Amino acid sequence: MKVMEDRLSPFRVEQTTLAHLRASFVRRGVAVLTEPALKPACWRELCEEARRQRSEAAWHLFAQKNPTEISQDNMRAFLGPAARKLLSSSSTQSFLYAVTNISLAPSWSASCFTYYDVPGSYMGEHCDKYNECRIAMLIYLDAQWSEKRGPGPGIKLYVFEGDSSRTPLAATVTSYPNRIVILDGANRAHVRPPMAEGERLFMLAGCFRLVT
Ligand SMILES: [Fe+2]
Repeated sequence: MKVMEDRLSPFRVEQTTLAHLRASFVRRGVAVLTEPALKPACWRELCEEARRQRSEAAWHLFAQKNPTEISQDNMRAFLGPAARKLLSSSSTQSFLYAVTNISLAPSWSASCFTYYDVPGSYMGEHCDKYNECRIAMLIYLDAQWSEKRGPGPGIKLYVFEGDSSRTPLAATVTSYPNRIVILDGANRAHVRPPMAEGERLFMLAGCFRLVT
């Protein structure tokens, strides 16, 4: 695979792929850089950091039936230096600009590692906060599912055309390890259904704000 010039390293993306990602983002508000989206060393480092943060510094995020909060049940952890370095790199800014045509900077308060690692873990329908997460870059780090059944609904992100699930479905993205999703999540409702038995997923949820 011919990898795009070093300017975008460690993202593994060719010029023609960038054009497809841009077209997809314009058309449906979501662009998927398929696996392996990051060079293996970078992906492994993020996986290790996420696992470390899960065991040392994670917290449970649980909310249900509270109209002021997003309904969800999952684990979160702050980013470590490897994730921060990647999100704040010029490669990330260039990559996001090429796909979204928006100048973006990381929003640290809204970015985190997210873990769906027990059956029933989920993320309810929501739109991201416009000021804190104008654009999201989701890096799926590791995922497991039943070999017999294949990835169930919990291993998929459902993205809608508008600001609620009453609008048509724009995309369904399976969360394969080392896959990246760039999402206009402030304008497009999205949801991750509950994990089934034997399913697990952890990811880097990067949020970006407009550069003013
Ligand atoms: Fe979101």
